[in-house]
Amino acid sequence: MGEKMPDQHFYVTTPIYYVNDRPHIGHAYTTILADTLAQFQRMRGRPTRFLTGTDEHGQKVQRAAAKAGITPQEHADRTVVRFQELWRRLGIRHDDFIRTTEPRHTRIVQRILEELHARGQIYKARYEGWYCVPCERFYPDNDQGAPQCAECGRELERISESNYFFKMSAYQDWLLDYIRQHPGFIQPDFRRNETLGFLQKPLNDLCISRPKARLSWGIELPFDKDYVTYVWFDALINYISAIGYLADEQAFRQWWPATCHLIGKDILITHTVYWPTMLQAMGLPQPQTIFAHGWWLTGNSKMSKSAGNAVNPMDMIDQYGADPFRYFLMAEMTLGQDCNFTEEAFIRRYNADLANDLGNLLSRTAKLINSHCGGMIPAPAAGEDGPDEAALRAGAGNASRRLFEHLDDMRLDLALAEVTGMVREANRYLEKRQPWTLAKQQNSGALRTVLYHAAEILRIAAGLLSPVMPGKTAALRGALGLNADVPPVLQDLSAWGKLPPGIRLPETPILFPRINAAAPKPPAAESAGQPSAKARPAAAAPAENTILAEYADFAKLELRTARILAAEPVAGADRLLRLQIQVGGETRQLVAGIAQHYQPDTLPGKTIVIVANLKPARIRGVESQGMLLAASHGGQLRLVTVDGEMPDGAQVK
Ligand code: MSP
Repeated sequence: MGEKMPDQHFYVTTPIYYVNDRPHIGHAYTTILADTLAQFQRMRGRPTRFLTGTDEHGQKVQRAAAKAGITPQEHADRTVVRFQELWRRLGIRHDDFIRTTEPRHTRIVQRILEELHARGQIYKARYEGWYCVPCERFYPDNDQGAPQCAECGRELERISESNYFFKMSAYQDWLLDYIRQHPGFIQPDFRRNETLGFLQKPLNDLCISRPKARLSWGIELPFDKDYVTYVWFDALINYISAIGYLADEQAFRQWWPATCHLIGKDILITHTVYWPTMLQAMGLPQPQTIFAHGWWLTGNSKMSKSAGNAVNPMDMIDQYGADPFRYFLMAEMTLGQDCNFTEEAFIRRYNADLANDLGNLLSRTAKLINSHCGGMIPAPAAGEDGPDEAALRAGAGNASRRLFEHLDDMRLDLALAEVTGMVREANRYLEKRQPWTLAKQQNSGALRTVLYHAAEILRIAAGLLSPVMPGKTAALRGALGLNADVPPVLQDLSAWGKLPPGIRLPETPILFPRINAAAPKPPAAESAGQPSAKARPAAAAPAENTILAEYADFAKLELRTARILAAEPVAGADRLLRLQIQVGGETRQLVAGIAQHYQPDTLPGKTIVIVANLKPARIRGVESQGMLLAASHGGQLRLVTVDGEMPDGAQVK
């Protein structure tokens, strides 16, 4: 962020997303970005607050609800869980999630409107001109005949009606001055110029009402019940209503002004013209930075549901896991620019940075420690410290320093490249120092030194990458014998030698298995030992390639009866039900792909058969402690139950 940041709070926001549709990669991107920035700042020890949420009023939501034949509130309630479920699966650590239909928000919007109205900042007037219904945007009269909407390209409608207006034009000169005097206010610089260009034309007053006769889904104007508030005037206020404006002054003073509003370039003007003038009219300070990032494109055009080219983040998570997906989005895009999304690019980067560099450094280091150091982190030998070690240590120090410099310039791609560069150097160091040869030569002092250095690089990389890949880096810390649950602190990452010699390595996990581009992995839910109804083989006659099992293999499985206590759908997953079951006095949760075959309310009371000793797995972010048995054939699926009375927990043999 251009200007040096003050040494205080860090309050970061994402746009609040419309609940008219499923989340796509664009929504996921901004939210992962905010999460990553927030986590880096928390690691730095800065008091941090991260806000996201949903924009639930307005024409788009009203239309989507009407199409689905339900009320806008019902529609919002159904759609919001998709966002919340996606954030859970992506490991997003927001401090708050605001919905604009919540009273804590609507109340504050009305109080602000009331005050601005009382102070003459809002007035009523007749409007005659062009209007885009889906985008809810007015276009003043011009000489060009029936124009098209600058936002969506649709033909505009001619309307004439009375409305309420905010005196935005009165702030034009002030805003121009403010932007010029605060170069860090709108970022990147070329976006600042775009706003300055927009402000070269005279600024109109902003129409902040919609007659209920035309659009009823919104916050009612406190001074005229025939109108609702324009969705943008309502939505922008979320950034202050969520932190206690006019409700909890102490909290508000702690967090406002925001450090960074992250937005996509599509909503630059609303954030850099409407919002600053609204804040100025309210007498509030401006956010420190409004940062507009570019778009994710497919085949060089913007992804959107209507274009049918949107990447579903859930599919990427199912296929490759949340952390590699997060890493790719953060490492691939240069903040501010557009970026093309392809699965090939994802696989290329994954294999290069994660499988070949990081994963390989872990597996070769752990293997050598296990074979030659009794599975314990070795102590480096003082006499074996040479220029290669000094260079590696210096490189690690530089990497963590430069990472934060790049971060402050919002160059996340370069920040992460510092870490991959450091890991790559460590692999080169191993090639050079040849620990496998040192082992053969029984040069244990040199061997210990080399392996300690490689392990230290892994510790530092795990810490520096933890904001981007929280799950995988916790596993990496665990693989080094460290406590995976203790979050890394920055001081430890810029210091060398924090890995205590003598700690024992557990079994080494394969953190980043190489992806064979020709044969992508099956979705995670299926590889986690929970075959979907579709993938589950029918209990038919053995096929030619059936593998004959030893009885000992079968005996490893613990099959038991279980009673279903409750069943409910899993948000965002059409096939899945979450079951609460009783197994011999113990209550467990199980996720099963049976939603297309059973209504949840028909299940409680049934006695089914489960594999009771299956490793727990997370399916769509929900833990499943076991797997039920079902017969399936030709698209039909029926649960395996027992014939007659049988208590739960009984063994099935
Ligand atoms: N509700 C408004 C924002 C109100 S904020 C007070 C809105 N919502 S939205 O659901 O349309 O989401 C817009 C945001 O999603 C964009 O600004 C951007 O952050 C993200 N993206 C949507 N599509 C995108 C891409 N294809 N690529 C990257 N991000 C984009 O506008």
